[in-house]
This record gives sequence, C-alpha cells and structure tokens, in this order.
Amino acid sequence: AEIYYFMGEKGKALEEAKAKGLLILVNKEHPVDQNYKPDDLSEVKYYAPDRDRAARYMRAEAAEAFDMLVEKAAEEGVVIKMTTAYRSYNFQKILFDSYVKKEGEEKANTYSAKPGQSEHQTGLSVDVSSPSVDYQLSNDYGKTAEGKWLADNAYRFGFILRFLQGKENITGYQYEPWHIRYVGLTAAKEIYEQGLTLEEYLLKNEIE
Ligand code: DAL
Ligand code: ZN
Repeated sequence: AEIYYFMGEKGKALEEAKAKGLLILVNKEHPVDQNYKPDDLSEVKYYAPDRDRAARYMRAEAAEAFDMLVEKAAEEGVVIKMTTAYRSYNFQKILFDSYVKKEGEEKANTYSAKPGQSEHQTGLSVDVSSPSVDYQLSNDYGKTAEGKWLADNAYRFGFILRFLQGKENITGYQYEPWHIRYVGLTAAKEIYEQGLTLEEYLLKNEIE
C-alpha cells in the first residue's frame, strides 16, 4: 500500500492489473508453461454456434468484461460473439499442426502460435466474429461495421486489438482484426489512444 502512494493513480492501477496477471506477455519470445491453466476460468455468455465448448471460457474478470462488451455492442446495433477464447496447450497444438499440414510451417507461423506461445492459453484473449460474415475470421473483418466498432470501442471494456496492421514485426503475427486481449481498463485506454502493441506498451512503462 505504501508504494502506491508515490505512484499516482495510473501507476497504482497498472500495478494492480499486473498483480492480477492481466499484463502478462505471451508471444514467440515469451512462452507460457505447457501445464499453465488459469484457475478462475468462467464461461462466456455469448458465443457463435457450433463452437468447441472447451474454448468458451475466459478468466472471470475478462469473461465479465467480454459479456459487457457484447451487450453494449448489441445496444449500439452491432452483433459480436466469441468464436474461441481459452485454448489449452493441447488444443493449440492440434490447431497449429493442422495449419502446418495445410500450408506449411513457415506460413502457419505468420498467423498461428505454436502451442505454449499463444495468449489464448492465458484465458485473457478471445477471437470474435459476427453473423454478417458467417463468423469467419478474415482480414476483411476490420472493414465491417462490427470490426470497426470493435477497434474503436474494445478499450472501453478493457480489451485491446492485439495484432495491429503495420506492427507485424513487433507482434510476430499478421494483422488480426478479430483477436482481442483483456488487459484491464487503464492499460487498454492508453494502448488504444497511443496506437501501441502490448509489447511496446510494456516496454515503455517498464513492466515485465
Ligand atoms: N492467432 C494467434 C497468434 C494465436 O494463435 O494465438
Ligand atoms: Zn486469437
């Protein structure tokens, strides 16, 4: 508590988010343990039809924030639903292996994390889509009304667009207008306003 006194409101909020694990960095350089599984997974209310039930979960705070995002979007005339959220190491392995089989490893590496390198395993990420595009995940989602709403409003619920256009060399992946990541309200607002990736933001704020 004493340390917070010197940090100001922003520092305090970030410190709290960090303590809750909301600022964890998972990418090609920062893997997560094979056995890591969040202990507070909670079912998301709004999901696309015919999806794997096991992938409907997020960490409790993120699930609650996501449901709020979906409800607020609906009020504003925009339909957004979850396609997959939490993915175990083994689920990610099945996905990655199937992409490698289809397109080769080099290509797969541009859009899919290897098992242990996906932030979906943290329970803080969710891929979303909409009925207007048959729940597909494609680059064009960023040009739809839903994709635009998401890019402009996700921060209000503590989410960021994780894989930005033009920042592929920093994130290690292609642009993904459908993948949002929960970081909490304070970091999300700053990341949105400053147009940063999570990598850049953590470095700038000296958060490891
Ligand atoms: N598509 C992102 C990079 C993942 O597989 O986690
Ligand atoms: Zn994703």
